Amino acid sequence: MSSTAGQVIRCRAAVAWEAGKPLVVEEIEVAPPKAMEVRVKILYTSLCHTDVYFWEAKGQTPVFPRIFGHEAGGVVESVGEGVTGLAPGDHVLPIFTGECGECAHCKSQESNMCDLLRINTDRGVMIGDGQSRFSINGKPIYHFLGTSTFSEYTVIHVGCLAKINPSAPLDKVCVVSCGISTGYGATVNVARPPKGSTVAVFGLGAVGLAAAEGARASGASRIIGVDLNPSRFEGAKKFGVNEFVNPADHKKPVQEVLAEMTNGGVDRSIECTGNINAMISAFECVHDGWGVAVLVGVPHKDAVFKTHPVNFLNERTLKGTFFGNYKPRSDIPGVVEKYMNKELELEKFITHSVTFSEINKAFDYMLQVQPIKEEEKRIMNYTSL
Ligand SMILES: NC(=O)c1ccc[n+]([C@@H]2O[C@H](COP(=O)([O-])OP(=O)(O)OC[C@H]3O[C@@H](n4cnc5c(N)ncnc54)[C@H](O)[C@@H]3O)[C@@H](O)[C@H]2O)c1
Ligand SMILES: [Zn+2]
Ligand SMILES: [Zn+2]
Repeated sequence: MSSTAGQVIRCRAAVAWEAGKPLVVEEIEVAPPKAMEVRVKILYTSLCHTDVYFWEAKGQTPVFPRIFGHEAGGVVESVGEGVTGLAPGDHVLPIFTGECGECAHCKSQESNMCDLLRINTDRGVMIGDGQSRFSINGKPIYHFLGTSTFSEYTVIHVGCLAKINPSAPLDKVCVVSCGISTGYGATVNVARPPKGSTVAVFGLGAVGLAAAEGARASGASRIIGVDLNPSRFEGAKKFGVNEFVNPADHKKPVQEVLAEMTNGGVDRSIECTGNINAMISAFECVHDGWGVAVLVGVPHKDAVFKTHPVNFLNERTLKGTFFGNYKPRSDIPGVVEKYMNKELELEKFITHSVTFSEINKAFDYMLQVQPIKEEEKRIMNYTSL
């Protein structure tokens, strides 16, 4: 038992008081974990577009004040009633979606979409009692994605914590919590490119680069990166991307460009943009007879996927995936092991490191990514989770 177990912990957290305003590092109180909850000391956290998107709160229900953050690595400080399988001192990765172990999805070998703990972006409280565990002078501060990792201590449902190898460096493996597993899993678990195949990856952000890394690890020989932002191309080479296509450089639809480059179509394509046009192109660019396209990006709420049904009759397959089809508790420890065995490189995904008190700099770095030209925006309509 740690000396803090059962007590309120005072610690620092980066609080978002208002949409789009810099976070403020404040002293907060973190209540002890209740039934089926775990209090975790967060040692490293990374930043994802989804944090930025909900912090900007353009177009969704604003939930403030709130503590963001969902990609992280930490150590269990104490556990609540009924928690088995985790104990103080265990190393864990919080995951924005969970695995209760009991529902039909958790019992199915084929699904990772837990009924109880599936991602919920609007909920700002714990699922058990509908209350927050964070406060400042008695005033509640809301949670985000059940993880809220921009705090030195946080409280998380046990079903949203993957127990990992304690010798894994948390400053590196923290990135496995979200985007890397999503992209890598989309390729290795869902698209499953055969050795020597040709794979197109649409969108070369963190998720797309991880999808490319999955293609490289699967032995794909041609990995074609497709992005409207040419500044993404150079960096993508490190992830095995060996050819590039910018749809804006061509008059004809990008699916036709890809079909010409590949003698009829790619063997696999993975869409990691969130843009509906890219989703349609990603499907239509796969080879008839065997091609498989996998959608990963989260589209605009009004988006409609339109294609001619003959594309399916000609034996093209379209799939979608959530969190790379990984079950958080059962499978994520294995992804960390892949890093430990040097099958998966994580260092190249880490572009900047800042101290906790400089967290706003991380937001600035993310917002600084070279903007796409005005005339290309109309085909973008990009929205994050
Ligand atoms: N399914 C899941 O479980 C899951 C989990 C995490 C993230 N995501 C989603 O994955 C997507 C990618 O996330 P990210 O963090 O890598 O985003 P990102 O913004 O860093 O990267 C997206 C890239 O797509 C490019 N792009 C946009 N529209 C395009 C188009 N029409 N054609 C070609 N390229 C285009 C952009 O230039 C950018 O480089 C987002 O939609 C995100 O919400 C899904
Ligand atoms: Zn994320
Ligand atoms: Zn479940």
